[in-house]
Amino acid sequence: MSPPGAAVGVVAAASLAAAAYGLRRLLRRRRVVRAVRAMGKVEFHAHLNGSIRLSTLVELAEARGLAGARALLAGPRTLEACFEIFALIHQCVDSLAVVRRVAREALEDFEAAGCCYVELRSTPRALGEHTEADYVDTVVDVMAGYAGALTPRFLASVDRSRGPAAAAATVAAVAALRRGDARARAFVVGVDFSGNPTSRHSFEAFERLFRECRDAHGLGLAIHVGECPRGDADASRILALARETPGRCRLGHALHVAPEDLCGAGAPLVEVCPSSNVATLRLASLRGHPRLGDVFARGFDVPLCLCTDDTAVFGTDLAAEYLKVRDAFGLELRDLALLVARAADRAFDAPACRAALARHGTPR
Ligand code: IMP
Ligand code: ZN
Repeated sequence: MSPPGAAVGVVAAASLAAAAYGLRRLLRRRRVVRAVRAMGKVEFHAHLNGSIRLSTLVELAEARGLAGARALLAGPRTLEACFEIFALIHQCVDSLAVVRRVAREALEDFEAAGCCYVELRSTPRALGEHTEADYVDTVVDVMAGYAGALTPRFLASVDRSRGPAAAAATVAAVAALRRGDARARAFVVGVDFSGNPTSRHSFEAFERLFRECRDAHGLGLAIHVGECPRGDADASRILALARETPGRCRLGHALHVAPEDLCGAGAPLVEVCPSSNVATLRLASLRGHPRLGDVFARGFDVPLCLCTDDTAVFGTDLAAEYLKVRDAFGLELRDLALLVARAADRAFDAPACRAALARHGTPR
């Protein structure tokens, strides 16, 4: 029998070894988190008001006496809850001065997460005596004056729930602004089709307008599709349009879409928003996300880009989205860098996107 002192010594050595192992794991994790944050990334699918800085939202809501804000933000993120949060944000973003602040802070936050190039999208709103064109011009002004290293571009959103007449008015305002202003032409590079996907308005009612944006105005098309099942032919019309000129059309979410419709020659890039999709599909884990397993584990050739959708709503940032995908599918940093480099070719201002990545020093 060994003396009691020896047993104590063995236990102490074992706990020391366990502590050292824990510390090594912690340090390794910190290195990974730092590397993913520092890696040059691109963001193609971020809604401006959904990307409002959370502390700003709370400050604005309290200043306006919006009592239910904290409770709403503390609740779960069902599709309905997300659209209640957007309504709250829109109550707070009530002047061009606030739009300016939200846009500037969003750019700062994306840059802090290692983003080199961002396409921020937003639904132009007439605020006070100002027009929708003034709204776009304000965001463009913030982008043009941004002093950081991030390269920003703007997509004008069409909210399907406002209907096709409002959409046509928005596109006309954006087209007029671009015609008369070289700066707006440089920064406004696309249009987005978004809004509550349960809206009665089908894509069919907007299709001509989106073709006009692509063919007459030279704008890229970013289209939300398959966020929830719909009884109309929404997804099939959008998929057919997207295959016509894949470089000029990207798809947002594309959850309720068969993988074979997103593979092969001419496949459009899918903007994957991991946290947003997990929340709206109520998935237990990211491993259950449609298609990601096919792409990362089985080599399906679906062009994709990782995006945040609405950082404020989903409590995330771009680096966190990359980290989640890395963890869920066991990816290496070089896999993530390759994903970014491939996505860059589908930016609506691809030369600016590639130049921003090159400046950052991302390997291609
Ligand atoms: P905004 O366009 O800058 O005001 O950003 C908020 C708006 O983006 C919302 O009111 C929706 O119209 C749209 N949006 C944000 N996230 C989603 C989404 O996941 N699906 C559809 N529309 C969205
Ligand atoms: Zn979206």
